[in-house]
Amino acid sequence: MTAESTRGRFIVFEGIDGAGKTTQIELLETYLRERGRKVFRTAEPTDSTIGRMLRDALSGTVSRTACELAALFTLDRVSHNVDPENGIGQALARGMDVICDRYYYSTLAYQGSETDAKWVRDMNLNCPEIRRPDLCVFLDLSPEESMARISHRNASREIFETRERLERVRAQFYRVWDELPDENVQIADAARSIEEIQTDIRRMVDRLTVNET
Ligand code: ADP
Ligand code: TYD
Repeated sequence: MTAESTRGRFIVFEGIDGAGKTTQIELLETYLRERGRKVFRTAEPTDSTIGRMLRDALSGTVSRTACELAALFTLDRVSHNVDPENGIGQALARGMDVICDRYYYSTLAYQGSETDAKWVRDMNLNCPEIRRPDLCVFLDLSPEESMARISHRNASREIFETRERLERVRAQFYRVWDELPDENVQIADAARSIEEIQTDIRRMVDRLTVNET
């Protein structure tokens, strides 16, 4: 497989806040680069104008309704796919493996638990410019454990980090997995050691084959 002739693999990480996404993504990126792969590491919300609007809403600086948030996250994602310079599509086409911290599963879980879940799902899954990942790794952790891990973070940083809220979002993630039987979602027990989790993830990624689309 050469970078020029085969598109890269599109790998998404999901999990409630503090589940270990950043930690595992960094280790996976190192692993892939050591194996000669080119890697495009990215995240949602993005750093675009829409992404900044979302961060203002997440920090509480600007108040947004659940539907506004769902629509903004989805718009951010469309642009994230099609941007000719920093987009997911161009990176995959150039043979790079794309690792994305959060994707539409987060919108389905976070905003889907706050407003009409079907509307949120349809807007994302029926959009021709939002591509399906080759693999979604869900780092599954209890809200208690995640709160303990992120307790040192700035309390005002985000509006989503309360135990009750994280419990609801985690339950909603499980509903989302039930509703997406055709997607390659792998659930990893994120309460284990960093190394054990990473070993599992590398195995999942090594197994991936790519369809040319
Ligand atoms: P996320 O990106 O999902 O919010 P992070 O990777 O930033 O999560 O991890 C949150 C915190 O938990 C960090 O301080 C990190 O060092 C720690 N951490 C990550 N994975 C583990 C693990 N498996 N066991 C214990 N602590 C962890
Ligand atoms: P992120 O920066 O990944 O936070 P963390 O590193 O703590 O996991 O995500 C910021 C917040 O945005 C996070 O609380 C989840 C929320 N979010 C949504 O509500 N909907 C979405 O579609 C996305 C991508 C994120």
